[in-house]
Amino acid sequence: MFYHYNIFKTKTTIANMQNVVLFGPPNSGKGTLAEKLEVELDIVPFSTGNMLRRLERAGDPHIIKLQEIYSNQGRLIPDQDMIGLVERELQKEIYQNGVIFDGFPRTEPQAMAFDKTGIPYEVLFVDAPDEVLISRASMRRACLPCNKSYHLVNLPPKVEGHCDKCESELIQRPDDLKIVERIATYREDTAPLEDYYFSKLGKVDASIDPETTFLQAIKYLTE
Ligand code: AP5
Ligand code: MG
Repeated sequence: MFYHYNIFKTKTTIANMQNVVLFGPPNSGKGTLAEKLEVELDIVPFSTGNMLRRLERAGDPHIIKLQEIYSNQGRLIPDQDMIGLVERELQKEIYQNGVIFDGFPRTEPQAMAFDKTGIPYEVLFVDAPDEVLISRASMRRACLPCNKSYHLVNLPPKVEGHCDKCESELIQRPDDLKIVERIATYREDTAPLEDYYFSKLGKVDASIDPETTFLQAIKYLTE
């Protein structure tokens, strides 16, 4: 799986750095936490969801089709496609000093492929109850160009409907209209990772305010 990937350079470089895997249900706040961890730990976040949306916006016909068939319906991209995309993305220079993996691995085959690389990492389980996930999906507005998420009440933009950073128009992600399906997919395909990672899992409560969630994460990572 990862064998075709120029892993040796990445592996030896990353091996001495800190890598963090964030996993958890849709809309639990992985991206929000990743942003804060980036500032604190100086590690670059890599969201597989953002990568897919970026390639879709760039007009990649294969990704456009995958997004239409899978992501926008609340389903996961097939493992083979996703593993290949991650391999390619990780070759970029920006990831050589450590990565916050936001949304990968998301299935057992992905986790096994990742483990075969020997890259060391910590895992944070970013969890929140279903009612919180559903409420956040309806309240989230996203800036696609700079990948920033807002919440209409908890984290509103300064100017209504526009991104604070790049002023682009905020949108509701198509998959936020499929939150019930995404939660079902999560239970089926991703939740089993809780057992897979059992012995190295740090759980943070993401149903509270982002700052407290962040402090819990830092405590676990630095203990
Ligand atoms: P992806 O974009 O990763 O979606 P997701 O996992 O469903 O997670 P989200 O990005 O929706 O939520 P989040 O946890 O980042 O929450 P956020 O911080 O934005 O993936 C999209 C799709 O791509 C997948 O469904 C799949 O199809 C495909 N895909 C991606 N990776 C894949 C893989 N490895 N394999 C196969 N397919 C893959 O926060 C949500 C909202 O809540 C925001 O409005 C935020 O402001 C607010 N908020 C966050 N934290 C708090 C808080 N503590 N208190 C109050 N509000 C908060
Ligand atoms: Mg996200």
